[in-house]
Amino acid sequence: MKYRKFGKLDIEGSAFGLGCMRFNGAASGDSTIDEKKAISLIRRAIDGGVNYLDTAYVYLDKTSEIVLGKALLDGYRNRVTVATKMPKEAVHNRAEMQALLDEELKKLQTDHIDFYLMHGINREKWEAFKEIGAPEFFDDMKKEGKIRYKCFSFHGDYEDFAYIIQDSDWDMVQIQYNFMDIDHQAGTKGLELAGSLRIPVVIMEGLLGGRLANAPDNVQALYDRFPVKRSAVEWAFRWLCDRPEIATVLSGCNETAQIDDNLRIFDSLEPGIMTPEEHHLMDEVRKAYLSRTKIGCTSCRYCMPCPQGVNIPGIFSAWNDASLYGTDPKKDWGFQNLVRNGQTADHCVACGACEAACPQHLPIIDSLRQAWKELDAPEG
Ligand SMILES: NC(=O)c1ccc[n+]([C@@H]2O[C@H](COP(=O)([O-])OP(=O)(O)OC[C@H]3O[C@@H](n4cnc5c(N)ncnc54)[C@H](OP(=O)(O)O)[C@@H]3O)[C@@H](O)[C@H]2O)c1
Repeated sequence: MKYRKFGKLDIEGSAFGLGCMRFNGAASGDSTIDEKKAISLIRRAIDGGVNYLDTAYVYLDKTSEIVLGKALLDGYRNRVTVATKMPKEAVHNRAEMQALLDEELKKLQTDHIDFYLMHGINREKWEAFKEIGAPEFFDDMKKEGKIRYKCFSFHGDYEDFAYIIQDSDWDMVQIQYNFMDIDHQAGTKGLELAGSLRIPVVIMEGLLGGRLANAPDNVQALYDRFPVKRSAVEWAFRWLCDRPEIATVLSGCNETAQIDDNLRIFDSLEPGIMTPEEHHLMDEVRKAYLSRTKIGCTSCRYCMPCPQGVNIPGIFSAWNDASLYGTDPKKDWGFQNLVRNGQTADHCVACGACEAACPQHLPIIDSLRQAWKELDAPEG
């Protein structure tokens, strides 16, 4: 395992950090954790050199922290740093923040959390956290030794990110980043801004939640033509670890084989490892993925609200995901939410209000019809 310096912090973190959001390995396939299996996965990762573990209050119906706590008994806690998070939705004042943190410490069976994150914030959530005094609370908890570092995880656009990261004295940030997200969310600009501030960056969704693990034919052909043979997973992690700003790349794993594969991959990855030819390959890979785009919707939402309640950007995003990454709409949580809420394309009455508002002049009505055929049209 390679270890990387955490920016300005006195910490050497493993390049591979274990994400604890996806231990749904129960035999029945439901959302409950197969606890024995999860504990064995966590300990296997730690025995293999992983020293950074990421969980959150809400993961796996609030059971992820409990399982991680159990996995860290028998001396494992002393070998790792633990990151967990506070969700804004669960706290409205200082007393509730205190109660939530104490509950997390109890579930994790530890007296301190290393990295404590405001969970999944954008500018709106950050303002809401400030209103209830969260930054001061985090500072106080640092002084009391209940947490070591004040951090946030981020889902929003670059402007929000640039504002938030410079609006407080953060110790670490966690962003979604991978070779397809260079201009999405915080993106490369956000990564470089954090680097310039010497704030370590932890990466989530390095494989886009697993979507980049299986390359479609036109992408696989590019990997196959390259003189050095590597799996799609290895290329994705290699591309990330090339960046010196990145402290740790989180990966959620469901199987022992995935842990072992990632331990092998991260054993050789260092900043600056990518050759110019490899960079060129990954640029071509990105283009090959993007060539599969069904519609160039940027989710600007000028078309919204649709008078019929159709979630136009949501449908186009699911349609593109299915084409680019082979996502199964039936297993796509976001898309299934649209189905449950009656926001799907079949409700379109072709009034044209959306097309008049679209700054890119997209043929929204016809595209919704096509998306309906390909994504969610009932059989028969
Ligand atoms: N703070 C936040 O807002 C937030 C949001 C998202 C994630 N996170 C954190 O970030 C962590 C990482 O995100 P993520 O789980 O989405 O990571 P990811 O690495 O993008 O995706 C994980 C998935 O990749 C697949 N995978 C991993 N290693 C593989 C391998 N060697 N070969 C083939 N497939 C492999 C597995 O997919 P299959 O399940 O299909 O096998 C796994 O479930 C999470 O676990 C969580 O701790 C935080």
